[in-house]
Amino acid sequence: MLSPNSSYRIDGATPEQQALVDELASSFFVSDEKIASIIETFRQRMREGLQADGLELKMIPAFIPHRPTGRESGSFFAIDLGGTNLRILRVTLKGNSQVDIEPQKYTLSEEAKSGPLFDFVAEKIGAFLDERGLLPAKDDPPIPMGFTFSYPVNQTSLTAGTLMHWTKGITAPNCVGRDVVRLLHDSLLRRHIKVNIVAMLNDTVSTLLGSAYMHPGTQMGVIFGTGTNAAYYERLDQIPKFCAPLDDPAASEMILNIEWGGFDTRYSVLPATMHDIKLNRKSPNPFQQAYEKMISGLYLGEIVRNAALYMVDQRLLFNGRSSSILNEMWSIDTMYLTEAISDSSSDLSIVKDILEKTLGLDPTSLLDRRIFRAIAIMVGERASRLSSVGLVSTLLQRPELLEKHLIVGIDGSMYEFLPQFEERVYDTLRRFLSPDQFKNIRLILAKDCSSVGSAIAAMFYGSTRK
Ligand code: GLC
Repeated sequence: MLSPNSSYRIDGATPEQQALVDELASSFFVSDEKIASIIETFRQRMREGLQADGLELKMIPAFIPHRPTGRESGSFFAIDLGGTNLRILRVTLKGNSQVDIEPQKYTLSEEAKSGPLFDFVAEKIGAFLDERGLLPAKDDPPIPMGFTFSYPVNQTSLTAGTLMHWTKGITAPNCVGRDVVRLLHDSLLRRHIKVNIVAMLNDTVSTLLGSAYMHPGTQMGVIFGTGTNAAYYERLDQIPKFCAPLDDPAASEMILNIEWGGFDTRYSVLPATMHDIKLNRKSPNPFQQAYEKMISGLYLGEIVRNAALYMVDQRLLFNGRSSSILNEMWSIDTMYLTEAISDSSSDLSIVKDILEKTLGLDPTSLLDRRIFRAIAIMVGERASRLSSVGLVSTLLQRPELLEKHLIVGIDGSMYEFLPQFEERVYDTLRRFLSPDQFKNIRLILAKDCSSVGSAIAAMFYGSTRK
């Protein structure tokens, strides 16, 4: 059983400071018993989401029943619209689980995020094709592309679905409630760009497909990044709410996008602290994505900021003085937490730079830096343990798959960079699965798999090969 306090002894802290650090540590601590009850609720909400639409875990059909084998070949195009970047790619599947990728990355400007986002995407698709001399002429057939769109969509077919709400800080107007593929096709049409979106996929769905191609044996696609979510193959007879036809009438399973970031929207079981509640209240989407707000990259810095200010306001950190930057919401990027946690120098010089140069605080003491780093560790540790809840619950939804070796393909900055994230996830999996189940699981970094999966969908469903 892990205990909250022992690891947060701060050298040189006054008794008042230590008491407040202990208070924070115990509020961010999640016991095994608590994790067990969250898993139970999570599993229950998954079962409910399989029964009916519009519930907390949306369990969205992806309309894809196929599993890649790794032997697929050919060149295909993919569009990948995430929270931070747009990527357009030509992916060559080499038929042996290997790929060549020709990517082009475009950072989403603030204007694009809050303005005509699909026009931005269409423009970049046009530029990508034009630069390579691939723009179809008037009489050429359109180029088929897979479209990874990493937001919650009420998908009604492979190429249709309405945006439920934006997540990850995007606020582009006139999109919610509208068909996303249609919006992109319209923007393409207005620019006379002959591209046909033949499949729309959530990023977890494309990560699953891409990881299954590159690492046969993959059963789940997961994102622990700016946002968080997962997809897996569910048996059709376990999805009573689904009655639409699939392109393969003999199919017995289909990929589902869980949209697990939306779990426990009312904080009925998640151990939210006052720092989480404050974040939620002030976020652009209050009472949505509650789970995501406790574990994903977009939010961890803000939780740390709230907790640090809580100590500042009691004059127990930074001499009771904040800075105008620290007072601003979202001013602590989660990347800085990763750097602060990794700082092993004796004077915590990296933490010093973050606090003084990035956050504009007055010269800080070593004690201030130790406390700030400890808060970052607490928030990161909680995120890692809570992240395992979704994994365990999903794996237990198909226990027969746990009887043999399986791979979970994971992408995202939390998994890739947050110190000890993977160890803690493994540790929690070990506690909540049987030894036989645990030994069969391998987590892998599914980097680039989302783009590969999107191209695979273009192969499955596009008729024109390039
Ligand atoms: C957010 C989105 C979801 C996506 C996830 C990871 O939770 O709602 O669709 O899969 O972020 O990018």
